[in-house]
Amino acid sequence: MNTTTLTNKETATQTDFLPLQGTDYVEFYVGNAKQAAHFYKTAFGFQSLAYAGPETGMKDKVSYVIRQNKLTFVLTTPLKTDNPIADHIYKHGDGVKVLALKVEDAQKAFDETTKRGADAYLEPTKLKDDQGEVVLSGIHTYGDTVHIFVERKNYKGVFMPGFRAWKSNYNPTSTGLLYVDHCVGNVGWNQMNPRVKFYEEVMGFRNILSFDDKDISTEYSALMSKVMSNGNGYVKFPINEPAEGKKKSQVEEYLDFYNGEGVQHIAVATEDIVATVTELQNRGIEFLNIPASYYETVLDRVGKIDEDLEPLQRLGVLIDRDEEGYLLQIFSKPVEDRPTLFFEIIQRKGARSFGKGNFKALFEALEREQDARGNL
Ligand code: FE2
Repeated sequence: MNTTTLTNKETATQTDFLPLQGTDYVEFYVGNAKQAAHFYKTAFGFQSLAYAGPETGMKDKVSYVIRQNKLTFVLTTPLKTDNPIADHIYKHGDGVKVLALKVEDAQKAFDETTKRGADAYLEPTKLKDDQGEVVLSGIHTYGDTVHIFVERKNYKGVFMPGFRAWKSNYNPTSTGLLYVDHCVGNVGWNQMNPRVKFYEEVMGFRNILSFDDKDISTEYSALMSKVMSNGNGYVKFPINEPAEGKKKSQVEEYLDFYNGEGVQHIAVATEDIVATVTELQNRGIEFLNIPASYYETVLDRVGKIDEDLEPLQRLGVLIDRDEEGYLLQIFSKPVEDRPTLFFEIIQRKGARSFGKGNFKALFEALEREQDARGNL
């Protein structure tokens, strides 16, 4: 018996050829990083952390790094038109370029993934300053989105070489956002399974949950989704593709406006969703409206919960339960003018799933928004 257990453990260790320590940062390419940083600080409660630009030797772009607990965002803008970042913004609008993953060995992460077929984005590169060194490497994933592997075990500075500490007189309080729970990618028709295969074969992820168009459909529109998780479960990437319905899938609307595949939403964890969402709404973040009828039957479906229902209903927080516990979640409206990237706020109370019981209410709420834009 012991031998069997040991063998299983050994197998698990051997097969995780890409051990990930979690999300290192998310980088957004935006039209105006200075203002975007101000928005994320003000509305979401991030703090200034680091800055890179012409003053630090980076001549062609500026990046502002902001942090809240374990959540690190990088906001980057090109300084001139003749720059691939400008092309990215022209094509996609503001959006996520990099889902950076923390690793022990960035060279090894690059070698293991490229030998399994990943397209190289960044050859292993060592960056040094008087605080030590950071090694970066990167590969392409869906659309123009990339993964950068970040090895920072030998670095003591605020972010990475090339950046300086960014001190600000403006330091809004935290809203209680803790870390990235999962990041969802929208891919094109018939592209979900090839992308699932990529995460399995090239990055050693597992498909932990699948939803077909019967799980995720309303009267009008549908999508399919598969959730990919790395070996230790720290990194989870659900992949959505549109499905045929009477009207246009929300994933299709995204693909039209993002002009290709990309990150649909970033789910961020909190330990107190009522406090977090109250604060976010007070600071101007808009969330999808959930009809009162949802709350008339939700407790029959999910059973007893620790929270009072009244604040959850007032805020529009959704509730779902699986075998392991329950979760509370809410979805923002898109945070840019194109109907593309949005945020999910999630509080897990045992549940490790993704709110399947809420899909119908959620997608009907999304459709109302889509319809108001004339895109349903
Ligand atoms: Fe989600």
